[in-house]
Amino acid sequence: MKEDFLPINGTDYVEFYVGNAKQAAYYYQTAFGFQPLAYAGLETGLKDRTSYVLVQDKIRFVFTSSLVPDSEIGRHQTQHGDGVKVVALWVDDARKSWKETTARGAKSYFEPKTEKDEHGEVVSSGICTYGETVHVFIERKNYNGPFLPGYIAWNPDYKTPGTGLKYVDHMVGNVGWNEMNKWVDFYGQVMGFTQLASFDDKDISTEYTALMSKVMTNSNGRIKFPINEPAEGKKRSQVEEYLDFYGCSGVQHVAMATDDILFTVGELRKRGIEFLRVPDAYYDSVLNRVGKIDEEILALKKLGILVDRDDEGYLLQIFTKPVEDRPTVFYEIIQRKGAKSFGKGNFKALFESIELEQVKRGTL
Ligand code: FE2
Repeated sequence: MKEDFLPINGTDYVEFYVGNAKQAAYYYQTAFGFQPLAYAGLETGLKDRTSYVLVQDKIRFVFTSSLVPDSEIGRHQTQHGDGVKVVALWVDDARKSWKETTARGAKSYFEPKTEKDEHGEVVSSGICTYGETVHVFIERKNYNGPFLPGYIAWNPDYKTPGTGLKYVDHMVGNVGWNEMNKWVDFYGQVMGFTQLASFDDKDISTEYTALMSKVMTNSNGRIKFPINEPAEGKKRSQVEEYLDFYGCSGVQHVAMATDDILFTVGELRKRGIEFLRVPDAYYDSVLNRVGKIDEEILALKKLGILVDRDDEGYLLQIFTKPVEDRPTVFYEIIQRKGAKSFGKGNFKALFESIELEQVKRGTL
């Protein structure tokens, strides 16, 4: 086996550029049960932006907004709406990660740099990926502060109970027409990932909409990036709708894992998160397709949770509606019981449910 030139320990954080970081942080605390972790802004000496960092188990989200009219963050937000800017990867050597990937053709986002404070030092570097999205490599073995140098601990009185979300299972990118293979090659050649599974438009199309998808993963499997491109259908597909509203390629959904999806989804629903609904008829036939499962089918039906099986086991999953004003970024909640796939058996029912939402938005 070839040596992995880009060993990755896991997802370090996901940073969103948003219109109002303070209110976004409140939403993710209140609705998703994230805990306050760190803060940077005027009080820490920044003049142009503010960032709130939230955590739930291994998931770290950063919400950043601009404090001034003419800034990269402000422009990004105007152009794309609230969306994912940074998918940060936790590595042992951020300098080597940058060197290896840029030597293989990655465009640099920023060169390796070392930042220090009283908690130690962090080395980071960055490369560009699809659209305006970037990967930042974070080397934090010599750091024990709350998040990164420049951030202070954020410990407000307002706290909410968690919802059982544990780690980022996968993050999906929507790329433009005929660009899937270009980005599959990017993850393969520039980052040394391999392909997990593929779906063609016959696997995942409905009467109206179609897409194609390939899944790229790193050597230890902790990073999984499915890449979607739109495929020709009778009407505008969900990937096209995303591209139209986001303005370019970008992150479509973040899948967060739980050990108890009934608890997690029950909590999220109570706190106002809206999920896609498949028709009740889905539950009449699902057990014929997936066989025996541990959960009560009626409990799954009540919450709208979907089931799929592959050779290694089964999985439970559900998708939120977009959580931004534009129909762009959404979340998947997933519980894996052996299955390593992504719920292909549910795509048809799901896409039909997305189409109903598109009809409401007048975008189908
Ligand atoms: Fe997914």
